[in-house]
Amino acid sequence: MTESLSRGAGIAVVGAAGKTGAAVVTALDGLADVRRVVHTARRPGDHAVDLETGAGLAEALSGCRGVYFIAPNVHPDEPALLRNAMGDAADAGIEHFVYHSVAWPYTPAMPHHVDKARCEDELRTFGGLRWTVLQPCAYAENFAAVLDGAATAVDVPYSPDARFSFVRLTDVAEVAARVLVEGADVHHGATYELGGPQALSVRDLCDRASGPVSVKQVSVDEWMSRHGQSLSEDGRGRLSAMFEFYDRHGFTAGHAVFESLLGRPPR
Ligand SMILES: NC(=O)c1ccc[n+]([C@@H]2O[C@H](COP(=O)([O-])OP(=O)(O)OC[C@H]3O[C@@H](n4cnc5c(N)ncnc54)[C@H](OP(=O)(O)O)[C@@H]3O)[C@@H](O)[C@H]2O)c1
Repeated sequence: MTESLSRGAGIAVVGAAGKTGAAVVTALDGLADVRRVVHTARRPGDHAVDLETGAGLAEALSGCRGVYFIAPNVHPDEPALLRNAMGDAADAGIEHFVYHSVAWPYTPAMPHHVDKARCEDELRTFGGLRWTVLQPCAYAENFAAVLDGAATAVDVPYSPDARFSFVRLTDVAEVAARVLVEGADVHHGATYELGGPQALSVRDLCDRASGPVSVKQVSVDEWMSRHGQSLSEDGRGRLSAMFEFYDRHGFTAGHAVFESLLGRPPR
């Protein structure tokens, strides 16, 4: 990205403490003043808000020109969170509201994707905001331990041969930063699907790791008993539906738009 894209102050990243938010904050570094809007403040200067009640949100967005909205993963009512944020953003005079959605949002077999489809619809029809939607496919960083060479074995609750257009979160964040810095004059009304350059399976990822990594399919119940303990029942249901869908259909998306926005092939 060139220096000429830098237009100064005031981007609020809502969900800044999460995996996605941290990547977007890093990508914006040096390009814009970033306001970290979080659920639980962990750093001095964080703006702690409650997205469910909207408490603190109006103050957190005040004075910013752009918002990047990242919802918590598998929240039971993402559209309600978005509604709070859109209302406060409009009241705060936000010029550009960018929503972090997902590829294939309207997929009835995956309720948390459908919630993102509903969010997209509410954003487009809200009327009081100029907006952009980003639709990333599955992050390669979901398998960070494989990519980093830290894992020697991985268990997945779907076929290890199901195919995904994995994206690198750093690439997604670079596109988010570009869209936020260039703003609504360039990107209002656009929905960008962001898929990786190849449809790869988890087995392929393991084969490309720096050392040997074995991959095994486990049942959804077994996976949940190991990794889903902290999830609500609703969250477990949403993730289980996603895993069952992945097992049958994989999850792929196009890369041409991603490449165009990056100005180079995605990694
Ligand atoms: N993983 C993927 O492959 C992928 C692909 C496409 C799209 N996405 C989407 O990307 C989004 C972010 O995913 P992620 O993996 O980056 O999430 P994450 O790392 O789990 O971060 C979620 C953040 O949400 C915050 N949070 C939790 N409960 C909250 C609440 N009630 N109100 C406000 N904030 C709350 C948490 O903040 P605190 O830490 O402050 O509590 C946490 O930092 C999700 O909507 C997901 O669907 C993910």
